[in-house]
Amino acid sequence: MDDFATLQQIAARARRNLTKNTWDYLMGGTETETTLRRNRLALDSLALRPRILRDVAEVDTSTSFLGHRIRLPVMLAPIGSLQLIDAGGAVAAAEAAAAYQTIYFCSSVTNPGRDEVGAATNAPKVFQLYVRGDRAWVDEQVKLAIEAGFEMFCLTVDTAYYSRRERDLIKRWQPSARRGRGHDGGDFQKKLTWDDIKHFKDTHDIPLILKGIGTAEDAAIACEHGVECVHVSNHGGRQLDHGRGSVDVLPEVVDAVAGRASVIVDGGFLRGTDVIKALALGADAVCIGKLQGLGLAAGGKDGLFHLLRLLEAEIRTSMSLLGIHNFNEIDASYVEEAEPVIDPHQLSPYIHLNFEELEYDR
Ligand SMILES: Cc1cc2nc3c(=O)[nH]c(=O)nc-3n(C[C@H](O)[C@H](O)[C@H](O)COP(=O)(O)O)c2cc1C
Repeated sequence: MDDFATLQQIAARARRNLTKNTWDYLMGGTETETTLRRNRLALDSLALRPRILRDVAEVDTSTSFLGHRIRLPVMLAPIGSLQLIDAGGAVAAAEAAAAYQTIYFCSSVTNPGRDEVGAATNAPKVFQLYVRGDRAWVDEQVKLAIEAGFEMFCLTVDTAYYSRRERDLIKRWQPSARRGRGHDGGDFQKKLTWDDIKHFKDTHDIPLILKGIGTAEDAAIACEHGVECVHVSNHGGRQLDHGRGSVDVLPEVVDAVAGRASVIVDGGFLRGTDVIKALALGADAVCIGKLQGLGLAAGGKDGLFHLLRLLEAEIRTSMSLLGIHNFNEIDASYVEEAEPVIDPHQLSPYIHLNFEELEYDR
């Protein structure tokens, strides 16, 4: 893994290792892919404002999330059908997270899944559920997740309908989780309301992360329901098209939450400076989806572990160049709106890569 000196090389190796279908599944978005691109545009449209002469010989990149100490404010987002990307699937990703000391979100639609991931590590982890049954079914899933060793629970609420992923539709391809009869589990996810969140909070004693919040209004309602964590997300541009970039949504959500819950964000995070920008705007941590998939595709568990180390190196360097010693010191004064310097597209940070030649790869 030490072959990889940069994240760009990991992306290049991942591209080489994945089939076209799996690459498109990992990297693609919905319809015109406008939301997908806006996630990057939002990040690329922020510039950093450094402070100097502050003795940055010691820098601490760690933070905590819902009471758990993590080495970096970067957690692994839930990914369905992860076994397509690496044979070890969710178990490999969970092991990498545990070895690195961060938190893994296990999707309910990946195989191996809940029980294998629960058995694989004792590290704190989150079980993420797509609702495929009635309230009694959900209650049972919570019980099973707790029994399997999950300390936190996540409901994804931006997926009432599975969106139109045109790269897949054109090729008539579907990820494994969607193949076969009844793949969308009936109308249960479509019929969810705030009443179901109330029922969850009244019934279960496990911290709840609500994933897929896109407005201050819904963030406020989530807080009124006692949700422990508001997760700002547009599913990496894979659900509603023509939405806002996640980092553009963050400030209004942080304001609305006003310290009543943790706030995390995902969507387009590919580099260390991206993470720093989100923390400057008030996020407690970020999740990575596509970047996690690139690490796994490049080298399985070790590739993902190495990717997290490279991300840490980027974050540590940028923190010291910004003049901050830990994340308690960062705030919105460290960022400013700016013209993006390159035409944004889904792989803007890796724009120098020519995937045909793969010069970086050995
Ligand atoms: C291949 C893939 C599969 C995903 N599967 C799930 C899933 O099963 N459950 C879920 O809540 N989100 C899922 N997501 C969304 C991620 O959890 C996360 O919100 C998103 O990837 C963040 O954006 P990013 O990919 O730009 O980092 C998936 C994302 C990708 C890329």
